[in-house]
Amino acid sequence: MAEVTMEKLVSLCKRRGFVYQSSEIYGGLSGAWDYGPLGVELKNNIKDYWWKEMTRLHDNIVGLDAAIMMHPDVWKASGHVDNFSDPMVDCKVCKARFRADQIDLNKPCPNCGSKESFTEPRQFNLMFSTHLGPVSGDDSNIIYLRPETAQGIFANFKNVVQTSRVKIPFGIAQVGKAFRNEITTKNFIFRTVEFEQMEMQFFVKPGEDEKWFEYWKESRINYYDKLGIRKDKLRFHRHGENELAHYAKDAFDIEFEFPMGWQELEGIHSRTDFDLSRHAEFSGKDLTYLDDQTRERFIPYVIETSAGLTRSVLMVLSDAYEEETLEGGDVRTVMHFHPELAPVTVAVLPLVKKDGIADLAKDIEKELRGDFSTFYDQSGAIGRRYRRMDEIGTPYCVTIDYQTKDDKTVTLRYRDSMEQIRVPIAELTSVIRKANKEYRRG
Ligand code: GAP
Repeated sequence: MAEVTMEKLVSLCKRRGFVYQSSEIYGGLSGAWDYGPLGVELKNNIKDYWWKEMTRLHDNIVGLDAAIMMHPDVWKASGHVDNFSDPMVDCKVCKARFRADQIDLNKPCPNCGSKESFTEPRQFNLMFSTHLGPVSGDDSNIIYLRPETAQGIFANFKNVVQTSRVKIPFGIAQVGKAFRNEITTKNFIFRTVEFEQMEMQFFVKPGEDEKWFEYWKESRINYYDKLGIRKDKLRFHRHGENELAHYAKDAFDIEFEFPMGWQELEGIHSRTDFDLSRHAEFSGKDLTYLDDQTRERFIPYVIETSAGLTRSVLMVLSDAYEEETLEGGDVRTVMHFHPELAPVTVAVLPLVKKDGIADLAKDIEKELRGDFSTFYDQSGAIGRRYRRMDEIGTPYCVTIDYQTKDDKTVTLRYRDSMEQIRVPIAELTSVIRKANKEYRRG
């Protein structure tokens, strides 16, 4: 099978309208990307799938949507002001900046080749800061763009406990933007300065944290299987002592084999009572939880599941891509998206335009809109139209012909197998729904 390279993915994403470089007409902005018509559908579908999986399918997980900007003390309490930094060095000749732990400081500069050595490593905070209100230059009104969505959840812990009927153990889930002033932003949308996270903080009784840590590890890796991601592309990586974030007692990454190698996709962290205790200390508010059965009062421990949404888009694109050699030697590029994630679920394609066939096809496409994301295309040879749909990962194509007028049936073509079957129009929705439910990658 032909290798999936980042160049091929970037090219397909641009060509088909999944992802564009930010501010491209001005030469682009490093580490920022825009999601085009198909990309935004794919990203929203991944988000919706996660949301359903992490909130609606549980009776003890609720949602939240906190503001990106928060009181600056949040980031002092969370430890991000003091600890959220990377060691950086600058080349003394070209001034290019590198993460000290990612290059060999005894070798020439990777940018200009100079042997003039680097500056001493300095800690460089990854948070973007700005000033609230019209006065700048004064540290009193400094605020940060959140580097993780999690703190919005911790800061609202008391609100959620008081205003909903949650009882420990329970979770709060949130999807939203986060920002980090990353120095190394190569590899397309893998590591960017603006990205989206899908996070869930699960609050448990102290002492029960290890049990729930195991539960969420298993639950999260199984989720990717449901999403249709190949199992052999996923693995766990446990953090060593020197990898653990400042808030973590234990942590596992779920890694995916991206085109550039195995890399983190999601983190599962045992955060203990670190965050709630620190917010209680810095805010002066009581953030304990009262167990109304045992009358015990305690600060809950937290298990966090933290997945990158934009990084998941790259994972789904990488896993779906295939250049398949067909009988006869032709090659088709096909994206094997899970039907629930595909930007277009059903394409409706009339085989001829005349004799009312195109109008009939348009009517069928309109009928399907209520249930699926659809696309109508009447231009070009049918083989080329199929190829276009394969390349954007449309799982079902419906063709309309003269027979449709006679017996009210259409041809349904499956993307992965290219099998074609005849289906009555009246049964089309239920046949597609069933195929969606039973989908396994072919
Ligand atoms: N609240 C915990 C936390 O933020 P993290 O391991 O720093 O943990 C969690 O980030 C996930 O967020 C990562 O596994 C990754 O998917 C995503 N992520 C982190 N930094 C990112 C970046 N610069 N660009 C894209 N995604 C990023």
